[in-house]
Amino acid sequence: DPVQAPDFTKCGDAHDAQTGAALDVKCCPPLADKIIDYKLPPFQMMRIRPAAHRASKEQVAKYEEAIRRMRELDTTDPQDPRGFMQQANIHCAYCNGAHDQVGFNNLDLQVHNSWLFFPFHRWYLYFYERILGKLINDPTFALPFWNWDNPKGMTLPPIFDKTDSPLYDANRDPNNRGFSVVDLTITRSKDNLQLVANNLTAIYSEMIRSVSTATDFMGKPYCAGTNPNPGPGSSENGSHTGVHWWVGTKDTSGPNKLNEDMGNFYSAGRDPAFYCHHSNVDRMWTIWRDVLKTDVPKDITSTNYLNAEFLFYDENKQLVRVKAGDCYDQRKLGYDYERIDLPWLNYRP
Ligand code: C2O
Repeated sequence: DPVQAPDFTKCGDAHDAQTGAALDVKCCPPLADKIIDYKLPPFQMMRIRPAAHRASKEQVAKYEEAIRRMRELDTTDPQDPRGFMQQANIHCAYCNGAHDQVGFNNLDLQVHNSWLFFPFHRWYLYFYERILGKLINDPTFALPFWNWDNPKGMTLPPIFDKTDSPLYDANRDPNNRGFSVVDLTITRSKDNLQLVANNLTAIYSEMIRSVSTATDFMGKPYCAGTNPNPGPGSSENGSHTGVHWWVGTKDTSGPNKLNEDMGNFYSAGRDPAFYCHHSNVDRMWTIWRDVLKTDVPKDITSTNYLNAEFLFYDENKQLVRVKAGDCYDQRKLGYDYERIDLPWLNYRP
């Protein structure tokens, strides 16, 4: 059977995803009196997500203002599910065992390390983007993507690195600011040229070379009543995890715990860069599916995948139920990505 949407009324304590140790974070969502089966709303204009390093002044200003208003909700109405911390806590609740699988109290619901990874994060960003748009009354607002698969986008996007911006997060590795090139495969090299070549080769490999079945890319099957973490897809395991690790702090001499914010499930969503990173993770899914002309089958047709469910609050604070199979085509969801060249296509190892 497909994994069912969690029961928010049974949400419990969060624990470390690797060690099981209790975490002193409370990340359960607010409760709602009803759950609505989500219908994709009609839209007039496609939201086109821009590369963060190429976003226009106007796009950046809107993004900053939307995040500022989202952060403001944390103080004015902490129970508003659209607030900044509430949005961050979604990740914690779905990833640190706060939700059990419905009907299996001894099994955590976990949206990583399986085929739920792409659809869960797509829906998560979908509602996050709509909430930001709603907060600034702009139904065309589109979430930028961190274009780390292109040498021009391989540093932390500068819009996240201005200390007075709402997009800033102090809990990051200070060594990886400015011109440092992201280290997608955790080589720990500091040589920018070597890192660029290594990153491009790694992306070629996780998009093409190491993928011969749909689940090689998407992640292993994960069904109701089975253990979480059956195995991540190539992209989740590779560049996706590399970016998380690279941004998070490695310095625990101060108040921070290791890898906060980006490098831990419970705290990753507290860094605005998380959503921009995941926008590119989502984009890589669309490229793998639409652009790459390989003979690998792209679609997972199992109903255990298609009917897996999640709950989110939408931009109108309504609790809605969505299915993994219903987010297949991003254009039907009302958004798409700015087209950028794909230099990694020429980095066959
Ligand atoms: Cu839910 Cu990048 O992790």
